[in-house]
Amino acid sequence: MQFDIIQPDDWHLHVRSGEALKSVIVMSAKQMGRAIIMPNTDPPVINAVSAKAYREEILGALPNNSRFEPLMVLYLTNNTTPEVITQAHNVGVIAAKLYPVGVTTNSDSGVTNINNIYPALETMQQLGVVLSVHGEIMRPEVDIFDREAVFIDEVLTQIANNFPELKIVFEHISTKNAVDFVSISNDNIAATITPQHLLNNRNDMLSGGIKPHTYCLPVLKRVKHQSALIKAAVSGNPKFFLGTDSAPHAKTDKESSCGCAGVFSAPHAIELYAQAFDQAGAIDKLEGFASKFGADFYNLPYNKKIITLKKQDWSVPKIYPFSSGEIVPFMAGKTLNWKMF
Ligand code: NCD
Ligand code: ZN
Repeated sequence: MQFDIIQPDDWHLHVRSGEALKSVIVMSAKQMGRAIIMPNTDPPVINAVSAKAYREEILGALPNNSRFEPLMVLYLTNNTTPEVITQAHNVGVIAAKLYPVGVTTNSDSGVTNINNIYPALETMQQLGVVLSVHGEIMRPEVDIFDREAVFIDEVLTQIANNFPELKIVFEHISTKNAVDFVSISNDNIAATITPQHLLNNRNDMLSGGIKPHTYCLPVLKRVKHQSALIKAAVSGNPKFFLGTDSAPHAKTDKESSCGCAGVFSAPHAIELYAQAFDQAGAIDKLEGFASKFGADFYNLPYNKKIITLKKQDWSVPKIYPFSSGEIVPFMAGKTLNWKMF
């Protein structure tokens, strides 16, 4: 069996910079038409100048014949003023990302109090710049498995109420709480869902030995939440769309006494989603989720290119070269049932 879909886009992707960027960008460019490039590089992308420079670095790392389009995002800090937003918008930045301080990889310059960026949010609402949110509360007393739910109650509800016209993407949702919040919100609020949150739950990460290559943030939750995410993804509701959150870290940084958060899924992202949709008996719902709903939300046209997905078993490579070392992809060594052509 095989079928064609419009080429997908990745609405949440980390590609790093320098040698690491060169190792991974081609993989996304083979699969995706466009990708929202996350700004948590070191140093982060905090203004128009750095967004432009980062875009050029990405384009420079692509093969000459590539038509892959990186879509740039600003990293919100306590010092992001309305002027910074306007300048970024003028150079084509389409979204700005809220990382609560300390919440994940390279988020030390993140926002300490949401009130600090209210003027910036006001400008984003006016200009139509999308707010992209890492939705977790970072307070030591909040259990890591509850951080998303508490964020909804303490922060996201407040932003949504105060900025009803602001377009918000609740990134890499991991709980039923998030599915419910997005489902009942107005049409300006959407969410991305990763392949690992569809295919795995916390047992896959922690039962029978710890699997560092499934560790990401937000951390995988119990099966009840995984089921709610699958249901949302295959529902055909355009508020839920593809965002891999592919987040490359070297093998040695993951297999460590203090391992980094991030799952690397770029080389076979669409195959992973096809697996999840097929397992849910809803392969016919893949194209909307992967290739249409995100573009609709960001007011962009669909890709012209068509890809073919074929039902065919193949093994995910155990390892890829990465910068000066190696990287282990999600589901390394496992058999997937769909292959992209
Ligand atoms: C991401 C990374 O490594 O940049 N890690 C992750 O676990 N998802 C950052 C992020 O999106 O939280
Ligand atoms: Zn991410």
